[in-house]
Amino acid sequence: MATKKIQVINGPNLNMLGKREPEIYGSLTLDQINTDLEQQAIPLGLELDFFQSNHEGAILDKIHEIFNENIAGIIINPAALTHTSVALRDALALLSCPVVEIHLSNIYKREDFRHKSMLADIVTGQISGFGHYGYKMALNAIANMINES
Ligand code: DQA
Repeated sequence: MATKKIQVINGPNLNMLGKREPEIYGSLTLDQINTDLEQQAIPLGLELDFFQSNHEGAILDKIHEIFNENIAGIIINPAALTHTSVALRDALALLSCPVVEIHLSNIYKREDFRHKSMLADIVTGQISGFGHYGYKMALNAIANMINES
């Protein structure tokens, strides 16, 4: 069976994890989170591709690229774009694979402007508030969905 590919996308400022408000986002860097996730993916028979950008347009371009590829699932932490980007919502709505929206912090416990996700009603599901463990939960969820399909 061919290895299934999962795209992991991280939005603005997540390249600063480890240094950025560690009391909210934890002390792991994005590289450490990605390395852990890669280890988890091996026994699941999944291949991960990682993409981070601080630029909305670059993230849209990446999603358009994926549209033409055979991607089995997406894990996305859209960061601040969660709350603002109709363009990101429209791009993700193009895709038919499972899409998991993840947030390190519980966005519903924070400022009012973070309570609204532009994506929540078009993604497969959302994980919010479990820190870096949320990425692992998302990967397990996608692996289970793939196995059951
Ligand atoms: C975040 C939550 C967003 O509100 C914030 O803008 C981020 C990170 C999280 O992972 O908790 O940049 O998506």
